[in-house]
Amino acid sequence: MKLLVIGGGGREHAIIQKLKENRDVETVYALPGNGGIAADAVCVDIAATDIEGAVRFAAEQKIDFAVVTPDDPLVLGMVDALEVAGIPCFGPEKKAAIIEGSKVFAKDLMKKYGIPTARYEVFTDRDAALAYLETAKLPVVIKADGLALGKGVIIAGTREEARNAIATIMVDKKFGHSGDRVVIEEFLTGPEVSVLSFTDGETVVPMVSSMDHKRAHDGDEGLNTGGMGTVAPNPYYTADVAARCMEEIFLPTIRAMRAEGRTFRGCLYFGLMLTPDGPKVIEYNCRFGDPETQVVLPLMESDLLTVMRACRDGRLAQTEVRFSDGAACCVVMASEGYPASYEKGYEITVDEDVSARIYVAGAKLSGGKLLTSGGRVLGVVATAADLKSAVAQAYEQVEKIHFGNAYYRRDIGRRALDA
Ligand code: AMP
Ligand code: GLY
Repeated sequence: MKLLVIGGGGREHAIIQKLKENRDVETVYALPGNGGIAADAVCVDIAATDIEGAVRFAAEQKIDFAVVTPDDPLVLGMVDALEVAGIPCFGPEKKAAIIEGSKVFAKDLMKKYGIPTARYEVFTDRDAALAYLETAKLPVVIKADGLALGKGVIIAGTREEARNAIATIMVDKKFGHSGDRVVIEEFLTGPEVSVLSFTDGETVVPMVSSMDHKRAHDGDEGLNTGGMGTVAPNPYYTADVAARCMEEIFLPTIRAMRAEGRTFRGCLYFGLMLTPDGPKVIEYNCRFGDPETQVVLPLMESDLLTVMRACRDGRLAQTEVRFSDGAACCVVMASEGYPASYEKGYEITVDEDVSARIYVAGAKLSGGKLLTSGGRVLGVVATAADLKSAVAQAYEQVEKIHFGNAYYRRDIGRRALDA
């Protein structure tokens, strides 16, 4: 079989390696992939958002199955276009991807179907938003409606910060049209859990839970990033919590999407907060999380391609989806300065005795060398029988990978181990 994977980050690298465990897979093409993915797939210089280019390429190469992973091509309708061209796909159609593409849609869906989430108001008018903020309880959470590279969420501790957030989103349009509407919501507290799930629109099968580390620096300080590391499973996500989430959140969401005529097939990501009042949805993503995928897939024992095809064809109930009861840790090695400005172009070298999985996110090949080309450069992943060993091994392995300006958090997994 010939597979196509749209995207080019660490998440896609993990997906490609996992797909290749299936012996029927002959070739994987990555659009655009990256310098590290090139070791596992044929990288083609077509942007992940170039729908026409992807459809043309898939038709020419007679691709048997495509996996669309990043949010923007999904929200733009990449799956719809490939399916029309006769290419079966893993991933939601445009009308279902809106669950991530519009926070207003997601919040209204949860309200309509009684799915627990933070209380909120929606504003299209700046003055109305500002007036509301004068009396809102602090801290307050302000979110741009649309996709904003994970940066459209501002937690304001003071009224002045709240006013500035409205100016940034609605007046300066820092996130473009994503800021035409804002959601202002109540600040929730409690441990966060990421749960990725497979779904064919009827059946939903959660994968092993995980914990992201979004801030740039140790102790959860510094700017929000795309994610500096992950562990799986998440110790806060007990069997009781899992059962409650299935009953109150996962199944109701899948049913709600179907009832709305927006059947969701693919990977639905539940960003949850375990509040004193029970689990609540912080956000939905219409795709695998990054870097959650890098710890979840190494623990998956079933064949990923088989499960993905079952999601697309509506056969998930009859398909085995098994995870090991071990643990995994991913430490992201980044360029110092990320997520603000950073230098790139440094050579990446790896000691011969490295045993971790290395999922490359931001690197390019140049003259046979692998050079850093992004903020998040790569994820170092270790699996073990328990979380403590997985964390220790991941950090041992980090020592064996070298590049100029390397930076990583030293405390990935600490909160999970203290839990
Ligand atoms: P999001 O992009 O929606 O995942 O938001 C980014 C981060 O902001 C989340 O991972 C939470 O840590 C935080 N956050 C978002 N919404 C809330 C909320 N209502 N209460 C507290 N923290 C929040
Ligand atoms: N790690 C969170 C995300 O992928 O959005």
